[in-house]
Amino acid sequence: MSKAIQAVRGMNDVLPDSIGHWQHVERIARDLLHAYGYREIRFPLLEKTELYARSIGELTDIVEKEMYTFEDRNGDSLTLRPEGTAGCVRAGIEHGLLHNQQQRLWYLGPMFRHERPQKGRYRQFHQFGVEALGIPGPDVDAELVLLSARWWRALNLDGLTLEINSLGTPSVRAAYRENLVAYFESRRGELDEDSLRRLHRNPMRVLDSKNPAMQDVVSGAPSLADALDNESRAHFDQLLELLAGANVSFVVNPRLVRGLDYYTRTVFEWTTDRLGAQSTVCAGGRYDGLVEQLGGRPTPAAGFAIGLERLIELLAIQGAASQPHQPELFVAVAQPTAQAAALQLAERMRDAGWRVTCHCGGSSLKSQLKQADRSGARLALLLGEDELARGQVQVKDLRGAGEQWSVAAGELDGFLRERLEQR
Ligand code: HAM
Repeated sequence: MSKAIQAVRGMNDVLPDSIGHWQHVERIARDLLHAYGYREIRFPLLEKTELYARSIGELTDIVEKEMYTFEDRNGDSLTLRPEGTAGCVRAGIEHGLLHNQQQRLWYLGPMFRHERPQKGRYRQFHQFGVEALGIPGPDVDAELVLLSARWWRALNLDGLTLEINSLGTPSVRAAYRENLVAYFESRRGELDEDSLRRLHRNPMRVLDSKNPAMQDVVSGAPSLADALDNESRAHFDQLLELLAGANVSFVVNPRLVRGLDYYTRTVFEWTTDRLGAQSTVCAGGRYDGLVEQLGGRPTPAAGFAIGLERLIELLAIQGAASQPHQPELFVAVAQPTAQAAALQLAERMRDAGWRVTCHCGGSSLKSQLKQADRSGARLALLLGEDELARGQVQVKDLRGAGEQWSVAAGELDGFLRERLEQR
């Protein structure tokens, strides 16, 4: 036997036993997004590499180190999407969706980053992304936050904290960056290797350092909040007022900078202390310059993305997800001669609205009942030659005390409804 091939490191299979969590989250999300007037958009997994260099930023970790980039057979440099905002905006510009219009859009799908895999951090992961394009005010920033907050409520999740900050305009940031470099240069001897590497290329990321030894240098750094321009300050104040008015709790975190370059003004993250190091479940913000940067007309925009693996992990920890994919009924056959009737019975039950798994492939009744148990069904319907001759079906309780009843085929639907409603 040759050696079995395994999945690529950091890329996960979602097996049937856990797909229920995914489907549950996806169903709730779709309903929610439609309730807020957001429409789905789908765009390719592969884009020209330049799209990400121009949007996420040449000097970010994602573009420098994490992209799956390759030359295709024509010699074009292509990249598997590491996130969705750039592709969404590219599609919006290309199809004329953005000029003088407002678009509320969402997408769902796999993203790819060559990071060091660990719990909650994968090389293929899934994002639910939400983007509001063409709307400048803090009101839409608030709408996005409210939508995410409702998302957690719809999933019965608690313990998530909203951290929020304003990064100001690009020119404010450029001036602030210079101040920051000057400050860190003055304490150069205390910087760790990572920070030294970032110092001139991306000094704001030094503020993000998780190294405890760096906390003293970081806490003495000049604050971006003090450097904000008046308009950004007003935008941020109004947003915080809108959130407070809607009873959303938040923590202003002046060190929140995000790892992608396109943000302007508002940035936010929802974090939890239940997932270990990979604690951010949802992240986003405003990116007013991106559409123009990618060749469109200036268009204000804001959005966020939820990491589905992390969200589902959190649901599993909190036991909040349901398993709606399980069958309610399992049809088993006592003799092979009853198989045709069993298939027909299963069809009739599905017509009546039941979720039914019908045994196929011929095996002993004992092994069929084991299958029935594993399937998660609540009741088994047993059919054999005796039952067929008498126009009856045996109904066996798979979850309680194992009771069994003989029921006339014509009365089966009513009987089942009564049994299952009693629980
Ligand atoms: P991001 O912070 O890079 O933002 O990713 C958003 C979320 O995706 C993270 O908070 C996390 O939950 C999840 N995520 C990121 N990387 C991984 C990974 N390697 N494994 C598992 N989950 C991961 C963006 O991607 C922006 N496009 C969000 C946005 C939309 N901003 C505006 N609109």
